[in-house]
Amino acid sequence: MEIAITSSPREASRFAAQFVAGVVRANPAAVLGLATGGTPLDLYRELIRMHREEGLRFSGCTAFNLDEYVGLGHGHPASYRRFMEEHFFQHLDFRPVNIRIPDGTAPEVAAHCAGYERAIAEAGGIDVQILGIGSDGHIGFNEPGSSLGSRTRIKSLTERTRADNARYFAPGEEVPRHVITMGIGTILQARSVVLLAFGERKAGAVAAMVEGPVTAMVPASALQWHPVVKVLVDEAAASALARRDYYREVFANKPDWQRWEGAPSLD
Ligand code: PGA
Repeated sequence: MEIAITSSPREASRFAAQFVAGVVRANPAAVLGLATGGTPLDLYRELIRMHREEGLRFSGCTAFNLDEYVGLGHGHPASYRRFMEEHFFQHLDFRPVNIRIPDGTAPEVAAHCAGYERAIAEAGGIDVQILGIGSDGHIGFNEPGSSLGSRTRIKSLTERTRADNARYFAPGEEVPRHVITMGIGTILQARSVVLLAFGERKAGAVAAMVEGPVTAMVPASALQWHPVVKVLVDEAAASALARRDYYREVFANKPDWQRWEGAPSLD
């Protein structure tokens, strides 16, 4: 894993955007794996800015989102389909046919999940997967205890995740118990992963992911098996990392050829 401890979520998001833009410029038909939540919002804003001001084009790209709530249709304000339209797709030039998000209203959930996996494979696999991390160490909606080899399927949320996400729902409205999520095995097949985490609330999960043992109890720790993972955190989310001074030194002293596409050094 490559750990970048940045001065702010804004800076981390700029680096992440530069990496994603590098993938898209190198391959205009790139396949992007996308995430929802508060964490990637600045990254999405930066990609939209690059589209408007620098001509970054997504018209040949395909996007697969990680997850969706079971039971929420496209029109529901808390659905991830709506979230992605509002914060990302409506501002960009993706072709609608190339936007894939699990359908929370699919009548045959298992068949829908199998079809989602097939669609990812038929698109040629995900080139870069954007991830946040839950305060309990989840990625996508793979809660602690998820099989490290899991594929897209239905999952039940923990009370902690339902409480974390209640802010996206109307007061008094129940957060759904069930979701469809790409599996950990699905995520591990992406060619590269960019994980963002900000704030003290994520510090324990980040430390367990990077420095703890690989365990299904911390689903993000499975990323230790992945060869190309970029973890971008702010100081608060890095605060529980035992080796944070080492990560700073490594990032500041990268050979030029190893620096990220267009990204300045952090020092
Ligand atoms: P957040 O969620 O970005 O809203 O903190 C992250 C996650 O649960 O993966």
